[in-house]
Order: sequence, then structure tokens, then C-alpha cells
Amino acid sequence: MTQSETVAQRGVQLREVGVVYERAVALSDVSLDVALGEWVGVIGANGAGKSTLLRAMARLVKYRGTIRIDGHETGPMHRRDFARLVAYVPQSPQFPAQMRAIDYVTLGRTPHHGYLGGESSHDRDRSAELLGRLDMSHLALRHLDSMSGGELQRLVLARALAQSAPILLLDEPTSALDVGRRVEVLELVDELRLERNLTVISTVHDLTLAAQFVERLVLLSQGAVVADGTPEEVLVEEVVNRHFDVRVEILRSEHNGIVVTPRRAKSKGSHD
Ligand SMILES: Nc1ncnc2c1ncn2[C@@H]1O[C@H](COP(=O)(O)OP(=O)(O)O)[C@@H](O)[C@H]1O
Ligand SMILES: [Mg+2]
Repeated sequence: MTQSETVAQRGVQLREVGVVYERAVALSDVSLDVALGEWVGVIGANGAGKSTLLRAMARLVKYRGTIRIDGHETGPMHRRDFARLVAYVPQSPQFPAQMRAIDYVTLGRTPHHGYLGGESSHDRDRSAELLGRLDMSHLALRHLDSMSGGELQRLVLARALAQSAPILLLDEPTSALDVGRRVEVLELVDELRLERNLTVISTVHDLTLAAQFVERLVLLSQGAVVADGTPEEVLVEEVVNRHFDVRVEILRSEHNGIVVTPRRAKSKGSHD
């Protein structure tokens, strides 16, 4: 064994990870190394396996292959130890309707409680701070069933951030938000990533927005990684056209970097 093999690799490491649902292959032989502090965007057409990849990393689906964090296999970890390492925001979360926002966010602190202890004032302070950073302080005492889709989406993120885990898995964290809120939420994720050296793996369907925030894009197609690189490397017309089954135009904008826009087959107003 060489010296480099004996030193545990920092970050997240997937080796030949595969997931099969009722005989349908959703993920096949995905190997991926994500460095500490890195933000990786997972992209791909509907059904490409993005959510499945995150669910495997979150241990919510049976997979073959190995997933390691800082050299430790995650499969055998105790639930609580795992929850201190990995926070996950699902694409379609379930909400306890009658719970208040602040209590919901504070649930994220559970892995940090002592075996007998419940939440502390420190836990509530952290939740309140996160609500503040997401511009939601005024909603702290509202029940979840009175909130909009966008507010709920920001709350799930706040709950995941309250978990203080170094690895954050976000499945389409901005899909329910308007364009202003999208940028705000992604800015916050980036700020916290730099502050706390978080490793972020997120799926994103807005390719233009992804290119503005992430350093690296991993493109999945039919459960396999077909491209992995910087947004400049991955977002090229030929690749996007092939794997999203669409014709796009990719523009370079001075302020925004890369802009991906679909091309219509017909021109506007044409009746052919
Ligand atoms: N619970 C499930 N049972 C059966 N098939 C599933 C399940 N979840 C996802 N799939 C299938 O697995 C494939 C990948 O799905 P998913 O990971 O949700 O893709 P994406 O997030 O990229 O849209 C799709 O073909 C989907 O229909
Ligand atoms: Mg998905």
C-alpha cells in the first residue's frame, strides 16, 4: 500500500455506487470525489438520477458500492454520528402542519442533544439567527400550514443549516422560489460554506444559476456521470443538447458568466 492510500482522504468519496429500484437501474457505477469546502452542482434531465444520488449519500436508499466521508464508510455509522456529519434537504419535504417555524428549525439541532437532554436556549438562539439570515424572523411563531411554498423551502434549508453538519446535500433547494429569493438563498449557502468550510452537493435545474454559484458541475444521464468539470467545461451546447434533449444556446455574459437558454423550434407567433 502506498503512503497516499494509508492517509484517509478528506471530503466525500463515492466508489461505484449503484441503485436499483424494482429492477430499474437509477444509478450505475457512480464514482466521485468531492473535496472539503467544495460546492458541486449535480445536473441532468428529469429522471437522470440526481435525487437518487443524493438519497444514497443521505443513506435513504439502498445502494451498492461505497460512500466514505473523510475516509470513513458512512454505511455502518451510528444514526446520530451520521446526522452530525451530513444534513440533507429533500426535493419534496413533508411538514408537520401544526408546528411553529422556530420549533421546526430547532429540530435540526436534535443530533447535538445529550442522550437525556432536550433542546437548550443555545439551540433556539441558533435557530433564531438562521431565521434572521433568511429574512424570516417575522415568521418564527407561525404554523407551517400557513406558509407559502417558498417560505417552507427556506425553512427546510434553515433546519438543515441548524444541524451544523459539515456536509450539506441539497436537492433542488430553490425550485419553489422566485428569482430574487433564489439568488438570496444561494448567496446564504455560499456565505455559510465559506464561513464554516462546508462541503455542498446540490442538484439544480436552473443551469444559468448553477453556473453562477458552483465551481464544479457533474452531469448525470441515465444514472451515470457523463461530464464533470467547471461550468465552462460542462455547459457546452453539444453536451447540453444531447443530455437534456433540447436545443439550447449558450451565451457568455459579462456580468452573469454563462447563460443557458432554450431555442424554440418555431419562431414566436408562427402557426406552422
Ligand atoms: N422510489 C422509486 N421507485 C421506483 N423508481 C424510482 C423511485 N425514485 C426514482 N425512481 C426512478 O429512478 C430514476 C431516477 O430518478 P431520480 O433520481 O428521482 O431522478 P432526478 O432527480 O434526476 O429527476 C427515474 O427513472 C425514476 O422514475
Ligand atoms: Mg430529482
